[in-house]
Amino acid sequence: MKTQLEKLFFEKYHHQPTIIVRSPGRVNIIGEHADYNNGFVLPAAIDKAAYIAISLRDDNEINLTALDLNEQFSTTVDQLKPIGDISWPNYILGGAAQFLKRSIQLPGFNAVLTSDVPIGAGLSSSAAVECATVFALNHLLQTNIDRVEMVSMAQKAEHEYAGVMCGIMDQFASMMGKANQVIKLDCRSLEFEYVPFNLEGIKILLLNTNVKHSLASSEYNTRRSECMQAVELIQHHHPEVLSLRDATVEMLEQFVKPNNAIAYQRSRFVVDEMKRLHEACHFLAKNDIASMGECMFETHIGLSSQYEVSCKELDYLVDFVKDKPEVIGARMMGGGFGGCTINLVLEDEIESLIKSIKPAYEAAMGLPLDYYIATIENGTEVI
Ligand code: GLA
Repeated sequence: MKTQLEKLFFEKYHHQPTIIVRSPGRVNIIGEHADYNNGFVLPAAIDKAAYIAISLRDDNEINLTALDLNEQFSTTVDQLKPIGDISWPNYILGGAAQFLKRSIQLPGFNAVLTSDVPIGAGLSSSAAVECATVFALNHLLQTNIDRVEMVSMAQKAEHEYAGVMCGIMDQFASMMGKANQVIKLDCRSLEFEYVPFNLEGIKILLLNTNVKHSLASSEYNTRRSECMQAVELIQHHHPEVLSLRDATVEMLEQFVKPNNAIAYQRSRFVVDEMKRLHEACHFLAKNDIASMGECMFETHIGLSSQYEVSCKELDYLVDFVKDKPEVIGARMMGGGFGGCTINLVLEDEIESLIKSIKPAYEAAMGLPLDYYIATIENGTEVI
């Protein structure tokens, strides 16, 4: 990867890149749509990543090349703004803009981007690029910003340049990941702990529906505001409740349910999911993987019927595996409306599972099924 990127960078810009940064995509074991409600999540960085090769310039030109798309984009530092028609430059420009917002002098730069995180698969391909950009520029500009602060800069890049009001999970996992560990992250305090995730004989299998989530960003923002509506209804009676993290089922029943049926349905999922995450962590600590897997199936039911962010293709894949003894747990993952399911599967049975699920899915849904066995790797790093 490194030599190939260096070679292509040289062909484009006629000099060597100063730095190449790798920043991974992520999985999330459980705790979905919990981050922007200040709850806990359990993500990990994976072996699929974005790579950015960068060098600073003497002038203020910004030249970007997306290797895999064979596309280029140029602008200047003083013209930094979100662009409408293509998305990938926004993740880099949005990352760069965060330095200016901190009144840090930013010269122009040349960059080449490549990534093997599948786009639109719910594996946070955009967070990977944002984190890679912020990390690389922090290094080149010698600004010494710490990792957690860089996570929040990468998140702002998504808010301000991609228009998705995402929570903190994806960028946190990409930047902070550690090999063979999941991150138990409290999205309210940003306190976190690494939890070993080395399941004997079990692998993480990702099944990609190949449904591109066109609804994803608008519906995502809608879910976020539905959760806030529930919080506001509770606040009339309990002003101390600042997010669904502070809400109880009783509060939802009493103050949300009679007033706003949709907000109740959404917030009930979130509050139940927060409880489920703690149960799942408890089972993981006791090495009771079967019970943890059950929690994942329950999360899927909630995401599909209460939170309504699934789609028929995701439901098909989870239904297909739910009674198979070799599948310990499965659910849709990420924002929803397409992308991947995450499955914990007995390693020895993966091949035969793929042999049966792939043709069945393709015949039933008329779409190809891609699959990846994900390993848990380190977060953002210089290579
Ligand atoms: C997307 C967002 C995350 C998180 C998940 C749902 O991946 O970027 O912040 O909200 O959806 O859990």
